[in-house]
Amino acid sequence: MSAPIVRIEDISNFTGESVTIQGWLYNKRSSGKIRFLHLRDGSPGTLQAVVLPDVCDAESFKLSENLTQESSLKVTGKVKEGRKPGQFEIDVESIELVHMAHPEYPVSLKDHGAEHLMQYRHLWLRVPRQTAMMRVRAKLNRIIRNFFDDRGFVLMDAPMLTPSACEGTSELFETDYFDSKAYLTQSGQLYAEACAMAVGKTYTFGPTFRAEKSKTRKHLTEFWMIEPEVAFCDLNGVMDLAEEFMKNLVSEALKECEKELTVLERNTDELKKIIDTKFPRVSYEKSLEMLNENGFKLSWGEDFGAPEETKLGELFDGKPVFIHGFPKETKSFYFKIDPNDHRIALGCDLIAPNGFGEIIGGSEREADYETLKENIVKSGLKLEDYEWFLDLRKYGSVPHAGFGLGFERTVAWVCGALHIRETIPFPRLINYIRP
Ligand code: 4AD
Ligand code: MG
Repeated sequence: MSAPIVRIEDISNFTGESVTIQGWLYNKRSSGKIRFLHLRDGSPGTLQAVVLPDVCDAESFKLSENLTQESSLKVTGKVKEGRKPGQFEIDVESIELVHMAHPEYPVSLKDHGAEHLMQYRHLWLRVPRQTAMMRVRAKLNRIIRNFFDDRGFVLMDAPMLTPSACEGTSELFETDYFDSKAYLTQSGQLYAEACAMAVGKTYTFGPTFRAEKSKTRKHLTEFWMIEPEVAFCDLNGVMDLAEEFMKNLVSEALKECEKELTVLERNTDELKKIIDTKFPRVSYEKSLEMLNENGFKLSWGEDFGAPEETKLGELFDGKPVFIHGFPKETKSFYFKIDPNDHRIALGCDLIAPNGFGEIIGGSEREADYETLKENIVKSGLKLEDYEWFLDLRKYGSVPHAGFGLGFERTVAWVCGALHIRETIPFPRLINYIRP
């Protein structure tokens, strides 16, 4: 009878039995006559396969000497407990070579610079750190959908090709659209607003595009956004929703991604502490004051950048913090203006602690037809592109609000990844479109 094919993650259930692992050679070393093959098979973790001359068949033993990194193999051997408790290895009985990899593997296990790794992203994805990150990404996707689905939100996808801007015209990707022009979407929000008037509570989950000229560790030119939109909701309501959502996301991630976060050496105490704490809500004005008391020299109207965001995290003891009520000049045409202070747009940003920066941007929307029309014109946008959007204020307009969560920044925060390029399989950055 041939040995069962087993995944490395399930190996502990097979102690004392012979099993077959189908995978790739991640690393190898030898000590005297013994060879150690480190196998990976796509499941979390790697497995040490010990090749002993008196246990392994002679042909396989010879083969093990010449195996190159990333060669694909079927390795059969008996499972035993390793040196450390909870660790398992196999004593190899036979090896079937599926494909001998070219000997010059570009992503060898020595340290490589970021540029080299990005050039070989299609191979870099194979290392345990990167696969752990992609698993967390996939799990967060499900956790996020479950959160909204369980609360009666209807998933309604927004178009990728749009006739106009949502977040200002400076960062639009333009493309030919038959005899006219189209733009890649910057945000699904305007469409989500229409959907909210149809179903009450909706969310979009899809790619968005921004011709970001900035080369930072937080900016992609193509990133995914989750954008809930709720009818009969105001700024406080949307902060309540965002807070409940983030706590759910982190607590579910801690439960479901334990193995991955261990591989990533994530300090999970930093995440655990946010679950039972109230997120501080601070006005832009107050946060400006606090920053200036701590050595910054900001004047009213200035936007916060990375150093300000990192400081805010520190000032609030590593808690995510909402900043709300921004100078209206810094915000897009759809923000509702504070009726009590006409300088202020009723928006909120959620700043993740430890320098992970703004992960959510949201607002109450302008619901009045005339005011919105005026804002569109003042922003230099073409009215005819927004007639349909204005219709929403013409036929049963209600107060409404929503937010956008940057998916990759959230993956970065949960995983503790210092650069956003690791949070998406094939990142698009100002200087990278290949592979
Ligand atoms: O703050 P932003 O621009 O808000 C909007 O687009 C709204 N229309 C959302 C809404 O209310 N429905 O973007 C939302 C979030 C940011 O907080 C950030 O997390 C992420 O999207 N984001 C980016 N992530 C990666 N790369 C970029 N270039 C990003 N720009 C924004
Ligand atoms: Mg923003």
